[in-house]
Amino acid sequence: MAYTGSYQSQVFGNGGSPYPFGAAELEEAARVKLSPEAFDYIAGAAGRGLTARANAAAFSRYGLTYRVLHQDIPTDPAVTILGTSLALPVLLAPAGVADLAHPEAEAGAARGAAEVGTSLVLSAVTSSPLEDVAAAAPSGHPWFQLAWSRDERLARSLVHRAEKAGYEAIVLMGDCYAAGWRPRELSHAFFPYRHGHGLGNYYSDPRFWALAGHTPSGPGLPDDAAREAAVAVWNQVFTRPSFAPGDLATLKSWTDLPILVKGVCDPSEARCLVEAGADGIVVSNHGGRQLDNGVAALDCLPAVCAAVAGRVPVLFDSGIRTGTDVLIALALGADAVMIGRPWLYGLALGGADGVAHVLRSLKDEFTSALTLTGHHTCATLSLSDLTPAGPQ
Ligand code: FNR
Repeated sequence: MAYTGSYQSQVFGNGGSPYPFGAAELEEAARVKLSPEAFDYIAGAAGRGLTARANAAAFSRYGLTYRVLHQDIPTDPAVTILGTSLALPVLLAPAGVADLAHPEAEAGAARGAAEVGTSLVLSAVTSSPLEDVAAAAPSGHPWFQLAWSRDERLARSLVHRAEKAGYEAIVLMGDCYAAGWRPRELSHAFFPYRHGHGLGNYYSDPRFWALAGHTPSGPGLPDDAAREAAVAVWNQVFTRPSFAPGDLATLKSWTDLPILVKGVCDPSEARCLVEAGADGIVVSNHGGRQLDNGVAALDCLPAVCAAVAGRVPVLFDSGIRTGTDVLIALALGADAVMIGRPWLYGLALGGADGVAHVLRSLKDEFTSALTLTGHHTCATLSLSDLTPAGPQ
């Protein structure tokens, strides 16, 4: 019997790993390590958490078809999405204020992703400027997530900076134009931006300071008074109040990079956005952090894929925890998936090394599942790999 991935053999060879392998154990270890407000910020969800729980539960409604006829061909989980080559069909989802998890923050995430051969989608709200994050992992192929500012010059500046710094795609944040109701954040009255987290891309942008009416004395965090004023301005300009499919033409006129829209769950919106020029769609409900009583993101995936009809890649996130979850999403039509909380937990436990552990584990488990369902690449996955698992 061959171990299908090299990470398993490495762990057995090393006599173990400093990190847990199960998603629940990883979360628990991060809970023990982090302050209550940091852990609740990361782990929390909207309202009672019904959407977040639905996201996880949706996967258990599918069974995978196990196959015995096989050929001696190595399994290769690599995919290429919009020109970016990925050693596995899993990217790191944009997640803000990663320095709450670990001081290595986004730079650690970028390094961990690059080590395993995949990409970080850098959140708009980071501790370090996007240029520094790209420079921290020179072999990486990062994407940038745009929060389309109410101030058009600021939005354009961020897009231009990302393109210049080597980011390979823009992921437009579609699903966070209004604040979700998150009781676990409220219980600590913890708004990280007020404490100096998350505004690295804004504090490094001259247009932002022009809006704030202040000239910073140098790079780095502004002093307390300037920061208080800056956070207030940021709150006003962070996102624009409206978004229509026609707006994509404006964004496309600013850049040659492909543009994906994240947070799409409604097939008719997906169809409109593709017709308006979106180069990719990300099915996501923000990990259940925005709207309680929401439909599980996985349950939206088949209809969105049908509406997109292969015209552009479809990515998926919200609830992916295992390699078999990745396989289910791909069999339902996704071209690749993203993980959110799991990489933040890995980061919390070991910086870049912890992120690489999470990705290597997913890669091995996915590669094993791909092989055992009779595949050598992701391209042949289809609905025929899935059977309804029945009530759980
Ligand atoms: C997020 N997410 C997110 N999404 C986004 O578009 N921009 C952002 O800045 C953030 N920030 C953020 C912070 C934290 C702490 C979390 C946990 C998540 C959502 C993220 O991109 C992704 O959609 C979900 O995390 C996916 O769900 P799972 O994998 O966490 O279940």
